[in-house]
Amino acid sequence: MKEQLEAIRKKAIEAIGGAEAAADLESLRVKYLGKKGELTAVLKQMGGLSAELRPVIGQLANEVRASVEKAIEAQSAIVSERALAARLEAETLDVTIPGKKVPQGHKHPMYAVLDDIKEIFIGMGFEIFDGPEIERAEYNFTKLNAPEDHPSRDWTDTFYLTEDSSVLLRSQTSPVQIRAMETHGVPIRMISPGRVYRKDEVDATHSPMFHQIEGLVVDKGITMADLKGTLNTIIREIYGPETKTRFRPHHFPFTEPSCEMDIQCHKCGGVGCPTCKGEGWIELLGAGMVHPKVLRNCGVDPEEYSGFAFGFGLERLALGQYKISDMRLIFENDIRFLEQF
Ligand code: PHE
Repeated sequence: MKEQLEAIRKKAIEAIGGAEAAADLESLRVKYLGKKGELTAVLKQMGGLSAELRPVIGQLANEVRASVEKAIEAQSAIVSERALAARLEAETLDVTIPGKKVPQGHKHPMYAVLDDIKEIFIGMGFEIFDGPEIERAEYNFTKLNAPEDHPSRDWTDTFYLTEDSSVLLRSQTSPVQIRAMETHGVPIRMISPGRVYRKDEVDATHSPMFHQIEGLVVDKGITMADLKGTLNTIIREIYGPETKTRFRPHHFPFTEPSCEMDIQCHKCGGVGCPTCKGEGWIELLGAGMVHPKVLRNCGVDPEEYSGFAFGFGLERLALGQYKISDMRLIFENDIRFLEQF
């Protein structure tokens, strides 16, 4: 039996030394040390040994097991080292190959203008409000004091979403005035930029979807002088300190008195050119003192508080700033156009 054990040791260690892969080592382990392995088979015969021989053979069997295990361990270290070396060889990395450039986009020019405008207003203590684009007629018209027969309520002008004309795509950002006063209360100083929708045909100056920026200031003692001073300051921040402005009387249901603000044409300096259609002035925004009825509709006492509101088109402002003549360029997302900014 002693010879048998020694033979197993010799055979096993030789085989292990020649193993090239971890899987081969595992099958050798099973072959020699496993439950049905050669060593176990020899040990099963130990019952027939004499009392003196049994511990001697037992000890030898343990030694054989230990040396086979050690050989497997040593060989597996060699095998995995070789595998790593082979992988390193196969996967060499050439750090001198030039990198691949990941193309990076940038802000849309109109949103760059919007961010500048927001900064200016925030600097003057305004908060930014957001409102829903799917709006109730109550907020888009009724609470803003628009009479039942106001032309802007017509189905030919506004996108209604329900047969009963109660829900629509907002046609202006003015409903956010109402929402802001209802949720925030007064005093308030806010602007609210966002998309608005009107049934307009697409051309160089119209789109069924465009952007407005609404503004609202309500406090004690606010007058038309605050309206003019604030808007002049902001327009000069945007267009430069020399910019000339003018205010013309106008009508909006939700402001009284109402006005429109023009700036002197930046292209011709007021002489008249195609950009200003020969007028010398470009209409920029609508504004006015918040109508007492609108304040009352929001639970604000017009005897105690007064305010002004304004609304302007973001596209027109961006077009003016970048001296672009066609609004469609803003929405077409033509990379050749956008990359110029
Ligand atoms: N909502 C008006 C429009 O779309 C603009 C406006 C806003 C006028 C606030 C006065 C006050 O034309």
